[in-house]
Amino acid sequence: MWCHDFAGTSAVARVGNDVVGFVIGYLRPTRPDTVVVWQIAVDASQRGRGTAGELLDALVGRLIEQGVRHLETTITPDNAASNALFAALARRWGTTMDTAGTFDAGEFPDEHESEVRFRIGPFPAAPGVRAAS
Ligand SMILES: CC(C)(COP(=O)(O)OP(=O)(O)OC[C@H]1O[C@@H](n2cnc3c(N)ncnc32)[C@H](O)[C@@H]1OP(=O)(O)O)[C@@H](O)C(=O)NCCC(=O)NCCS
Repeated sequence: MWCHDFAGTSAVARVGNDVVGFVIGYLRPTRPDTVVVWQIAVDASQRGRGTAGELLDALVGRLIEQGVRHLETTITPDNAASNALFAALARRWGTTMDTAGTFDAGEFPDEHESEVRFRIGPFPAAPGVRAAS
């Protein structure tokens, strides 16, 4: 259902015919200049080769053509790979990554670590494209 309804804000990585990674996101309904990355994952056999970075670059490159200027996601503090991934994205695009609050562990109904919310941007506007509003 996600890939059907949110294909424009999602992408997969393939090796041959095999899907080895994906990123899924959506445009914030109240702020469509922001893509929220809901999940990104790369098959364990393919990690550390830049695949997740390429997925995010492809997604951002596609969406700035539609006026997207920011990306938001949540990351658990102990997820070193994910923290490095999004920090590197901000560096590559020459922009900043700021915390935008935390969902504390106690806010989840089950056992769950806290999730820190990050906001990356602004991304450079594509020539001739105005920010989505
Ligand atoms: C997070 C994840 C998607 C990264 O995928 P990947 O293809 O291995 O990432 P990349 O190779 O593009 O590396 C991105 C950055 O993270 C760094 N990195 C990768 N694995 C790392 C690790 N285990 N520890 C620390 N840094 C790591 C890389 O060095 C790179 O940073 P750099 O550009 O500054 O060198 C992957 O580890 C994964 O699927 N994890 C499980 C699912 C998950 O936690 N998703 C994120 C939820 S928010």
